[in-house]
Formats: sequence, C-alpha cells, structure tokens
Amino acid sequence: MSIDDLRAQYEAYPYPARDPADERKRLVTGSPSHLDEVNHFVFGGRLDHARPLRALVAGGGTGDGTIMLAQMMADAGNPGTVTYLDLSDAARAVAEARAATRGLTNIEFRRGSLLALEGLGPFDYIDCCGVLHHLDDPAAGLRSLTGALAPGGGMGIMVYAPYGRTGVYPLQQALRTMTEGLPPAERVAVARRLIAHLPRTNWLLANPFITDHRQADANLYDLLLHSCDRPFTVPELADLAASAGLAVAALVEPSRYEPSMWVKDPRTLKRLEGLSWLERAAWSERVCGSMTKHIAYLVRPADLDGAVARPDGPEVVPVLRDLDGPAIGRALPPGGSLDAELMGAMVTLPLPRLAGPILARIDGRRTLAELHREVAAAVGGDLAWETFRTQFGQLFAALNGVGKLLLRRGVR
Ligand SMILES: C[S@@+](CC[C@H](N)C(=O)[O-])C[C@H]1O[C@@H](n2cnc3c(N)ncnc32)[C@H](O)[C@@H]1O
Repeated sequence: MSIDDLRAQYEAYPYPARDPADERKRLVTGSPSHLDEVNHFVFGGRLDHARPLRALVAGGGTGDGTIMLAQMMADAGNPGTVTYLDLSDAARAVAEARAATRGLTNIEFRRGSLLALEGLGPFDYIDCCGVLHHLDDPAAGLRSLTGALAPGGGMGIMVYAPYGRTGVYPLQQALRTMTEGLPPAERVAVARRLIAHLPRTNWLLANPFITDHRQADANLYDLLLHSCDRPFTVPELADLAASAGLAVAALVEPSRYEPSMWVKDPRTLKRLEGLSWLERAAWSERVCGSMTKHIAYLVRPADLDGAVARPDGPEVVPVLRDLDGPAIGRALPPGGSLDAELMGAMVTLPLPRLAGPILARIDGRRTLAELHREVAAAVGGDLAWETFRTQFGQLFAALNGVGKLLLRRGVR
C-alpha cells in the first residue's frame, strides 16, 4: 500500500471522529501519554516541570494524544512544546481547531511522515498511538522515531493485538475482495450492508470486545476497511521494540498482564514461576482472550533500570488518576476491597488494612513521609515506617495495576 492510499483514507475519514466544540465540555484522556503516566513509566517520576519537555505526537490524527498532553503540560506549568505530525490535512484541521478552542499555544502543527523526520527533534518523549500497525514496515517506522529520540527519552505506543480482535481480520479480507477500487464512502456503504446481513456464526458478532463497526464511519473504516492492519502479540511487540534498539519498560495497565488476574488456581500459577515478566505477559494475553490492543512504554535498554517509578523512598509522591481518594478512603473499611474493570472483566482488588486512611490523604502533593506521619497520627499508635511502606506497597500494587495510582519524585 502506498503512503498516498493511507493519506487518502485519513483525508476522507479523519480519525477518531471529534467535534472541536466538545473541548468546551471535556478533556479526552487516555493512554499512552497522560502526563502523570509518562512521568511514572518513562522518567521514573523524575520529570521536572521547570524544564521544557520536548514531545512529538507522530500520527497525531484528530488530536486526542496531542490535546491531552499539551493541556496537561500547560496545567503543570511545563514550558515545553508538543509537536504534532500527521500526513492528513483533514485530521490536522480538526486537531488545530480543538487546540484553538482550548486556547493552547504550546503545540506546533506539522504535516509530514514519521518516516522522514530529518530536521525534527530531538524529543524527550514520543507518542505513536495506533499508527505503527498501519505501516507497511512498522519496524522502519519505529526506527525512524528512535532516531529522533533524545538521550534518556522514551516512547508511548499503542498497537493492535490479535486475540481480542477475533473476527476482525477475516472480515477485512472479505471486504477487500468486494471494495477494491471503490471510493471510501462506497466502501463504508458496502461494509455496513454486509454487517447488517452477517450470519450469527460470524466471529465479529460474537466478539463483545469490539464495537467500532457500530460507531461513526471513521471508526468502522479504521476497523474493517483499512488497507494495512497488522496486530502484534506481546512477543511480537517486544521484537518490534528490539528491532529499533528499544526495550519494553512497561505494558499498561500492568494487571492486565499478570496471570493471577485471570486464573485463580494456585497449581496452575505455580507452573509459571520462573518466567520473565514479558513471558508472563505473553501467557496472560493468550489466556485472557480480550486484549484488543497493547499500550507500551519503550526506552533504550540502558535506561530500563530507572524508567519505571517505584514506591521505595520517603520522598516519593503518590498521584491518583481518575479516582476520588478522600471519598473512597472514607468509605473503605479496614481490610476492604475495590472492584475494577479489567479488559471486559470485573476484578476484586483486596486492599491492605490502612488503605482507607492512606487513600483519604493522597493529593498528588504529599510525600510518603508526610502520609506516614499523618496516617500514624490518625490511627493513634505506633506505626513504623517499614509497616507503613509495606501497606502502601500493597495499595500501590493493586491500584497501579489498574492504572489508578502513579508516582512522582518530590519535584514539581
Ligand atoms: C488511527 S489514526 C490514530 C490517530 C491518533 N494517534 C490517535 O490515537 O487518536 C492514525 C493516524 O496516523 C496517520 N499516519 C499514518 N501513517 C503516517 C505516517 N507515515 N506519518 C505520519 N502520520 C501517519 C494517519 O494520517 C492518521 O491520522
């Protein structure tokens, strides 16, 4: 497929479908590239917002990642810039209108290919969400991005995953034989007609994890009519990263990739002992069945050690994401648990005894040392640092696993 074909698709159907006026009502957030998440999984929580972050969003589409990151950088007082790059003028127009609605002035909009980045960069952080799997040569795309990555920098990528997309690929092939040479709007009409007449035995109809074909035309086009769509399993994703001189620092959310989230039988789990974390992740993907995509943070192998923040010192600052800590903390009895959604399944997260009092005080500013002091005073009695740290570690494992709790170091 030529780059012109790809561009034609995204000129006709900028993706995802967005109305700039909606920026007055809400900020679309997600992964990768939520600023707290990037700080946690790429920079070990050490991002200093006094220093300008240089970010690239490669294949920015209608702007979800760009707008989120630029807004969060502005809110954090970071004086850096987000460079938006895309082949499609139509997609860029939507992204520019969204930025204008918000009054964001920290985005540089560019038209071009991520395969030709000469003169751009270096960047501390690169977002490439939903793009690599559409390239003829995803490894060449990732190598090109790595070439623009500053020393110590990292990337957030999203690629499609095969098992959760069961039913998508046979239907893509079926439609390809019927739609060759047709203009985009006619292809959509053909696809909608076929979907309406599919037999009950069709795997896409049986797949509860995929709904894009029931949404806007741009979503249907991306799902079923894309001329190039190649999903990645966990091992294939790790190979892709390695082929560009990168390593997987983290897969989010981490609990998705933890076998014990999916299979509770201790004897089965015992047989997995000794596997590396990536092998366990690959096993989880094969068994859970519902993974439609992978979100990964990548760094150079030499930077792996310090990439992901750990709850290991009194100066660490916990940051909640999309969770009302005080409300949950007050309602949580000692030894209580939280229910969370994980890839289409409800999971129960057992929490430590002090989860309530700790959660009630996490505000994105207090350090672990301060939380320790305050929780000790609140529970009235001796609370050794080691005991507090163990309790916080358990709370962190549960909530970080489902993307709700991140860490930063004591710089702002
Ligand atoms: C599926 S959309 C994803 C958009 C956005 N990253 C998001 O997640 O919402 C893919 C985008 O990548 C762009 N794209 C594809 N190949 C590209 C290339 N070689 N260089 C730059 N952009 C590209 C397309 O024009 C399209 O806007």
